[in-house]
Parts: sequence; structure tokens; C-alpha cells
Amino acid sequence: MRVLGIESSCDDTGVAIVEDGRKILGATVRSSSRIHEDFGGIVPELASREHVMAILPALHSVLTSANVPVDGVDVIAVTRGPGLLGSLLVGVTAAKALALALSRPLVGVHHLEAHLYANALVEPIIFPSVALLVSGGHTALYRWSGHGDLRLLGETVDDAAGEALDKGARTLGLGYPGGPAIESLARTVTRCDLSLPVPRLRRPIHPFDFSFSGLKTALVDLAKNHPHQVDELAFALEAAVVQALVEKTVQAALAEKVKRIYLAGGVSANLRLRQAMTEMAGAQEISVLVPRPQDSTDNGAMVAAAGYYAWQLGGRMSLDQAPKTPFSLG
Ligand SMILES: Nc1ncnc2c1ncn2[C@@H]1O[C@H](COP(=O)(O)OP(=O)(O)OP(=O)(O)O)[C@@H](O)[C@H]1O
Ligand SMILES: [Mg+2]
Repeated sequence: MRVLGIESSCDDTGVAIVEDGRKILGATVRSSSRIHEDFGGIVPELASREHVMAILPALHSVLTSANVPVDGVDVIAVTRGPGLLGSLLVGVTAAKALALALSRPLVGVHHLEAHLYANALVEPIIFPSVALLVSGGHTALYRWSGHGDLRLLGETVDDAAGEALDKGARTLGLGYPGGPAIESLARTVTRCDLSLPVPRLRRPIHPFDFSFSGLKTALVDLAKNHPHQVDELAFALEAAVVQALVEKTVQAALAEKVKRIYLAGGVSANLRLRQAMTEMAGAQEISVLVPRPQDSTDNGAMVAAAGYYAWQLGGRMSLDQAPKTPFSLG
């Protein structure tokens, strides 16, 4: 079963062909992030224009590299939401056109669920488990009981973890996207005398809610007193974000009595997060699985993998259905 996955929710145009929800036959991601750099964040109008330019060349190159004729695709899967409406429309329109022209089923996928399915490209998912989704726009913990069966355990009440890193990087003059810049600078630090408070919520709505908005103010204050220690400030910011994510996730896994944690989303590419989570969960005999770093950020393969399982469960998107944003999960 070959699923063609299309992702266009934000600033990356991702297309991939995946066999049986697991094996990537061909994949490409065309990012417009460089265009947004000067603005310190994504400009929605520019992002949608870039998707329009990128979508057909991306489709072409994936079909060619996978050596699959266009009618050799069995199902078309596309990110239906959440995301930037103008960006989503480009992917959804391309997917509908293909489904109509080829008479193939169309499946609309939730973007965050697709991020979680980047793990299915490594090995089959073990249920029940706890999944931490940490991306540029979201930070959420789920109990994952089966395909299509996710229950929200907690989420950020303000900024996402990736957003905290992006805003922190901007404060430190490190450019956009901030996560990778913070990570590579923090890696050069062998000794750090600076620290930031690990964010904790006094009165969460869900037991495992997060809050990251206070970190930016704390970082600004610390940077005022230590303006020349940018590398240590980056280290301290990364440490505080990682600690908050690891503590809550391991607590949630213990409360849910599961033996497997999945990480997903752009921030899950962070090596320190991967190592700290593996160490702390390992001490409780809980194993941690992470996607390959290149599958952590937005891509078409995760959409194809999620689409494969959604299709098996009977999920379909009709040609008169529009992108959906906001779009809740679990
Ligand atoms: N190595 C890394 N370490 C830390 N953060 C990282 C790393 N690589 C990417 N990020 C962060 O990941 C985020 C982008 O991830 P992703 O592409 O999954 O988010 P998004 O698609 O923009 O948001 P969403 O999925 O919530 O709509 C950015 O905030 C970026 O700084
Ligand atoms: Mg994303």
C-alpha cells in the first residue's frame, strides 16, 4: 500500500511516498524558512506563495526519486489542519486534484497526529504509550492507546517549547529558527554558572500542563546582568526547557502506567532533550523512542504514515471539505 503524503501547514512544503506506513520510497522538503528569517518569524502570505511555487516541483521530484508512476500511488494523505490557512489550502488543493484525477481515496490528517507518526517510520508503535509533542506552535502530552486513539493529558497554557527557544534566540541575537541555534551554541559550553528557573504551573488546568512564557522575561533579566555570556545563556535556556519537558513527561508516563514514551515535533530533534528523557525514563524502566532528526520537523513522510493508519480506520476527506484550523486532537 503506497500512500502519498503532502504537508503544507506552515513554512515547509513536504511530499513523500511511504509504503505500508513504514518504508519511505521517496521524500522531499522545501523550506521557505530563509525568507522569513529577516522578519524573526513566519509571514503567512509569503509562506503560502512559496508553497504554490514549491508543490508541483516537489511532487515531481518525489515521484522520480521513488521511481513510482503517479498512478502507482494508492491513497493520497494531506495535512488538513491545524496551521496557517493559506498554506494548508495549497497542500489540500493539490491533494484533492490528485485524488480526483487518479480516482484515489483522500485522507485528511491532523498535523500533530502526523508528527507523532514520524515514530512509526522507525518501528511499529507500541500501545499504550505516552507521547510528547514539542514543536514550534504546540507542546502537548497525550496518552496514546491505539491508532486514532489519543487522549490529551496536558498542554502549554501559553508559549510552546519551540516558541520559547525561538523567542530566546531572538533575545540573544541568534536568528530564526532558534532551537538549532541554541542547541549548537549550548553544545560548546563545558561549564555554566548561569541558570534559569524551571517553569512550573501553580494551578494547571490539566495535571500535566506546561507554561513557558515566563522564561523569556527571566532570560531578558539574566542577559542584562551577563551580556557577554551568550553561550551560557543559551545553555541555561535549553536546560530549563528540557528539564520542564522531561519532568512532566516521565510523571505522566508513571501516572498512566505505560512503559513507552514517544517524542515528536521539531524540538524532539534536540539531542539534550533526547538524552535527558532517555536517562530519566530509563531509571523508571520506561523506554523512549524518537523519530529520526530529519523526520522531527514538518515533512510529508509523517503525513503519509498517519494517513496509512487513518485510511485503515476508514478515515476519508471529501472534495468539499476545507482545511480545518483550529482543529483539536484528543
Ligand atoms: N535541534 C533543535 N533543538 C531545539 N529545537 C529545535 C531543534 N530543531 C528545531 N527546533 C525547533 O522546532 C520548531 C519547529 O518545529 P516544527 O517544524 O515541528 O514546528 P511547526 O511545524 O512550526 O509548528 P507546529 O507543528 O506546532 O505547527 C522551532 O521552534 C525550532 O526552533
Ligand atoms: Mg509542525
